Amino acid sequence: MAHFVKTCIRGFSTSAVREQAIKCVTVIGGGQMGAGIAQVAATTGHQVVIVDQSEDILNKSKASIHKSLQRVAKKKFADDAKGGEAFISEAIDRVSIQTDATNAVGNADLVIEAIVENLDVKKQLFTVLDKAAPQHTIFTSNTSMSYVSSLLALTEWYMLFGGLHLFNPVPVMKLLEVIRIPQTSDDTFDKLLAFGKSMQKTTVNCKDTPGFIVNRLLVPYMVEAVRLVERGDASTRDVDTAMKLGAGYPMGPFELCDYVGLDTMKFIMDGWCEKYPDNPLFQPSAMLNKLVEEGKVGVKAGEGFYSYKKK
Ligand code: CAA
Ligand code: NAD
Repeated sequence: MAHFVKTCIRGFSTSAVREQAIKCVTVIGGGQMGAGIAQVAATTGHQVVIVDQSEDILNKSKASIHKSLQRVAKKKFADDAKGGEAFISEAIDRVSIQTDATNAVGNADLVIEAIVENLDVKKQLFTVLDKAAPQHTIFTSNTSMSYVSSLLALTEWYMLFGGLHLFNPVPVMKLLEVIRIPQTSDDTFDKLLAFGKSMQKTTVNCKDTPGFIVNRLLVPYMVEAVRLVERGDASTRDVDTAMKLGAGYPMGPFELCDYVGLDTMKFIMDGWCEKYPDNPLFQPSAMLNKLVEEGKVGVKAGEGFYSYKKK
């Protein structure tokens, strides 16, 4: 009964709730994506809370936001140093940090989950959030791999659920994939599109399918590059050079794997392979798995296909 009442209130919300624009955003996960999402939400006028597992991680998130804001300000306020400083401090002031997810969603109009790409951990998080968030809070996931709908299993308020898939680096990449599942209400979907616009992103819509649009094409391409090197057909450096100079890509596939994170790449491949074991594009790669096993997960670890350690 409680379930019925909650979903009715959420799905057929009162006009007061309907009109409520997204002002307060809680971003769960302050890693490379979470920090980028929080930054852009703050520079576009939203109040933001970032949640992560420790103060130490959260302080690193804030430091990376600060560094990134400086890069943005350097261009945007090239001839106006004071304007640049104000831009940075106003954005920073809109961001607070929290280690307790239940406290952090008390005022949230929107939750964007950007934690580790592990379905069980994500599900556990949404179970907790479902009990703590106010009735109007929209829940979204920035997942690269999972079905957004598989995260619904433990939440009661499914009409207020959708996917918001942003791209790395969030302050630079202009796209937002908005994922609508059958249960997403029209009101929720409209609010997600409006939020994307307020973040100054171009939105595209996609059904809840593996990798949505971009990753469905990009991840198999990146893993195919790994297979090419595994076969000994070419070196990582030459494949990267070839794709940058021959196809005009800003990064080669190995640079991009390291940039995205090899742990995330492996989670994506493992998830797809489990669900579609016969699809040749979704087969695991021994080279990728070995690097992850060794903790060489890319730029964030200082080493992946390439080394990023300062000499
Ligand atoms: N914050 C703010 N600004 C940043 C930034 C950041 N984190 N990173 C780069 N920039 C800005 C720089 O300030 C610079 O601005 P100007 O040109 O105006 O001076 C511009 O971006 C270019 O940066 P750089 O000169 O440092 O380096 P670059 O030219 O090599 O570009 C890049 C860096 C933008 C990351 C570029 O290499 C690129 O577009 N790479 C491909 C990224 C990509 O494909 N992302 C998608 C990954 S897949 C994904 O995200 C989905 C998933 O689920 C896995
Ligand atoms: P990341 O490893 O940089 O950050 C993940 C963060 O989540 C870490 O700071 C970790 O401490 C935190 N975390 C883990 N469990 C948590 C919990 N229970 N509660 C709070 N925080 C928790 O990863 P990322 O690259 O930012 O990716 C995050 C999500 O975004 C993943 O689902 C990933 O697939 C997706 N994504 C990644 C990219 C990319 O290029 N890396 C692009 C788009 C989407």
